[in-house]
Amino acid sequence: MIRFNNVSKVYPNGTRALNKVNIDIQKGEFVFIVGASGAGKSTFLKLIMKEEEPTSGSIIVNDTNITEMKRRKVPYLRRTMGIVFQDFRLIDKMTVFDNVAFAMRVIGARPKAVKKRVHYILGLVGLKDKAQSRPAELSGGEQQRVSLARALVNNPSLIIADEPTGNIDPEMSFEIIELLNEINKQGTTIIVVTHEHELVHKFKNRVIEIQGGEIMSDTGAPTEKADVKIEIAEEELAEIPEEIAEEIPDVSSEELNREALAAIEDEEAAEE
Ligand SMILES: Nc1ncnc2c1ncn2[C@@H]1O[C@H](COP(=O)(O)OP(=O)(O)O)[C@@H](O)[C@H]1O
Ligand SMILES: [Mg+2]
Repeated sequence: MIRFNNVSKVYPNGTRALNKVNIDIQKGEFVFIVGASGAGKSTFLKLIMKEEEPTSGSIIVNDTNITEMKRRKVPYLRRTMGIVFQDFRLIDKMTVFDNVAFAMRVIGARPKAVKKRVHYILGLVGLKDKAQSRPAELSGGEQQRVSLARALVNNPSLIIADEPTGNIDPEMSFEIIELLNEINKQGTTIIVVTHEHELVHKFKNRVIEIQGGEIMSDTGAPTEKADVKIEIAEEELAEIPEEIAEEIPDVSSEELNREALAAIEDEEAAEE
């Protein structure tokens, strides 16, 4: 599913964040990425999402060499990924329901499909009762579950989480990882960056340690898992005609937030 061939990343200021990294992650794996602050973990994830470009080497995601991918194809790549951030990146002005629904709306899903799917996903993360709450009314753990729901809603084949438990207490952290583990059992590939060694030990998943931009250790040995996705009928997602497909907005969370905020501002301006 993901292959790094001799990948190096040197930022414009000269910082060498990754050095000749070779890695192979199979479809259906659950991988923890560990390592000290500044080791290159986030850079590794950003390269997978094509948020950064490698300085040398090549990266294969889903059988595609993304280093050669055209810009207009990047939204398609991102559509296959669900991204969870340490700081949740929820939209405070929107309800829990809308925070999750928005990720579907931007890719043109029909309202009926959105309603059905969002309720299903909120149930999955245990937040059915909080659909009409706003992020500020939730605990950190609950907010992270909303962001996980948002990452899941478009049925990604890959979930990428950069220190998803960095801002929540240990008990909640355990729950979030447990939830990811359940999702993984249903076939979704999961990559989680974390500092928390205790968590890593509890869940017996593959652990890749990055140090100074290099792979220090890798417990490796991926086990084959069922190629099943969480329950979603493909037809629930709206068909997107080829000619407008190129206009599909990027569904990475940062992009979503920007678009959502612009939409809210437009609405408010219209009301005035
Ligand atoms: N946009 C950037 N420009 C320059 N240097 C960066 C940039 N992003 C990260 N770095 C540097 O690259 C190294 C790896 O960073 P990062 O991948 O964020 O590490 P980690 O996530 O493991 O803490 C660090 O030395 C960091 O300061
Ligand atoms: Mg980081």
